[in-house]
Amino acid sequence: MGETIVAIAMRYVHIVAAIFAVGGVAFTALCLVPTTRLLEDGVARTVTEVAARRFQRVLWISIAALVGSGVYNWILAAEDYRQLGAVGQALIGTKVLLAVILFAVAWGGTVGRIRPRVVQMVNLHLAAVIILLGAILRHLRLESLS
Ligand code: HEM
Repeated sequence: MGETIVAIAMRYVHIVAAIFAVGGVAFTALCLVPTTRLLEDGVARTVTEVAARRFQRVLWISIAALVGSGVYNWILAAEDYRQLGAVGQALIGTKVLLAVILFAVAWGGTVGRIRPRVVQMVNLHLAAVIILLGAILRHLRLESLS
């Protein structure tokens, strides 16, 4: 029973962290940036910088939660992936590899090595694929167990 509660909690943490991280980036790219274009240059820069600074904290806490809960979920499902064979291993391997690239791009943005607009667009596309891979993995595992 205890293990089940932890497994549900970790899955919950993984999904909520993904919602915060991806939702924040989507809101910034699709709503905040176009809206600040209506403001004067100086004001627009200040609003964008303050919002970005506030979001960085949320983003990195979400990434830490994604890594922690993701590794836990991976260990828990490792036997299922083995049973799924090459497809299971390839899907989880690709999912984690894309997640690492996403974190690296986010880091590049945080330290000012990659332009914010590039970080937002690259990471929104990566996130879309990572979420799809998570959904496929879950479906295949449930299907293979039934
Ligand atoms: C090191 C980073 C990560 C690891 C190790 C990891 C690992 C996992 C694992 C093992 C699962 C379970 C799949 C299954 O049910 O078989 C999963 C599901 C999922 N992951 Fe990740 N993940 C990581 C990063 C991310 C990121 C960055 C996102 C979002 C952009 C994300 C979004 C999801 C979603 C939406 C699911 C499906 C949840 C569900 O239906 O239960 N993950 N992840």
